[in-house]
Amino acid sequence: MKKNWLNEANYTVVFTGAGMSTESGLPDFRSANQGLWQQKDPSQVASVQALNDNAEEFIDFYRKRVLGVKEFEPNKGHRYLAQWQKQGLVQSIITQNVDGFHQQAGSENVAELHGTLQKVHCQSCGTSYNSEEFLDGEARCTCGGLLRPSVVLFGEMLPGDPFDMALQEAERADLFIVLGSSLSVSPANQFPLVAKENGARLVIVNRESTPFDDYADEVIHERNIGEVLEEWDGLLK
Ligand code: APR
Repeated sequence: MKKNWLNEANYTVVFTGAGMSTESGLPDFRSANQGLWQQKDPSQVASVQALNDNAEEFIDFYRKRVLGVKEFEPNKGHRYLAQWQKQGLVQSIITQNVDGFHQQAGSENVAELHGTLQKVHCQSCGTSYNSEEFLDGEARCTCGGLLRPSVVLFGEMLPGDPFDMALQEAERADLFIVLGSSLSVSPANQFPLVAKENGARLVIVNRESTPFDDYADEVIHERNIGEVLEEWDGLLK
């Protein structure tokens, strides 16, 4: 990215996808070799239909993902974003990720568009629990209802508050940086466009090309996010 864009900007918003957490050890969804959806059909394990009609495989899939976010941790990319926020260089994070790693690294003002694997809730009464409660036994609420991860499943609406915050942040940004997303899932993939249409500079850092590259002021492919952010941090010194 041009040396002083981060310094020059008044309101920088960072938008992240699963590529932000692969350097922590978590798989993304659509990378050619390691993507989760290369091995599993999301409609069979990550949809409302799967929750209702394929409960055993659904629970097994999400127990593995909950264990993953407990076993792994934020990487240097998450830490740079948190550091830059403390330095006033980043104002907010819009994430599609459900691992909670931005908050664990110290970022605030994080809009979790697709919910979080750090929490589960009762399908009957809505009571929320830490996701450890989901890891063994029948994973039931004290009311007897079944617990489910507090993530957005295919076929569900996005939670209103994070969506509204993300829209407000995208409209306010004068620098909008996409990190590690194929930008293939709507409505999340519309936020870079909203920012661009509201006058922001758009930077996309993603190993592979995305459908929105042509709208970007700068695109960085075939490099790891951690290494790119480390380089930018060096420019800021
Ligand atoms: N550095 C840079 N880019 C990376 C890295 C990395 N270390 N690791 C992976 N990538 C890139 C991949 O090339 C890929 O294009 O990150 C992108 C991740 O894209 P997806 O796997 O499609 O993940 P994401 O865009 O977050 O998916 C959006 O889809 O299934 C739903 O709810 C799920 O939130 C997810 C949504």
